[in-house]
Amino acid sequence: MASWSADLELGNPTMDDDHKQLVMLVNELQYSVDTNRRWDVIRSQLDDLMTVADRHFCHEERMMRQAGYPEFRRHKKIHDDLTRDLHILSRQIASGEGEFTHTTVEWLKGWVGSHIRGEDRQLAQFLARRPVLSRIA
Ligand SMILES: [Fe+2]
Ligand SMILES: [Fe+2]
Repeated sequence: MASWSADLELGNPTMDDDHKQLVMLVNELQYSVDTNRRWDVIRSQLDDLMTVADRHFCHEERMMRQAGYPEFRRHKKIHDDLTRDLHILSRQIASGEGEFTHTTVEWLKGWVGSHIRGEDRQLAQFLARRPVLSRIA
């Protein structure tokens, strides 16, 4: 996943807009790691990613609740696990115990790509059958 690609498009404007932003932020982190940018740049990009991910997860979880999505708990747990891992990573980087490396970027890219193609696609398909609820007002 080097950039936004058609197979990440789910046809739900709220989800697609958020996902484009997430992919862009992960790509910026990749660029920073590839070009050995300073740690404070990477830390602020990671902060931005965490903010956007939090907001995006809230959007999806609100749509799931409003639509009575049967997989809500499982999907939310996946969001919560990533949020927890990002917070741990951020704390480790801040304290100097951890680093943001190529492996970290690959893990993030893999997570975003497979979550969108898997759980999120399933959610978008469910919401599409309830058009009134498929977009946040
Ligand atoms: Fe998503
Ligand atoms: Fe999701």
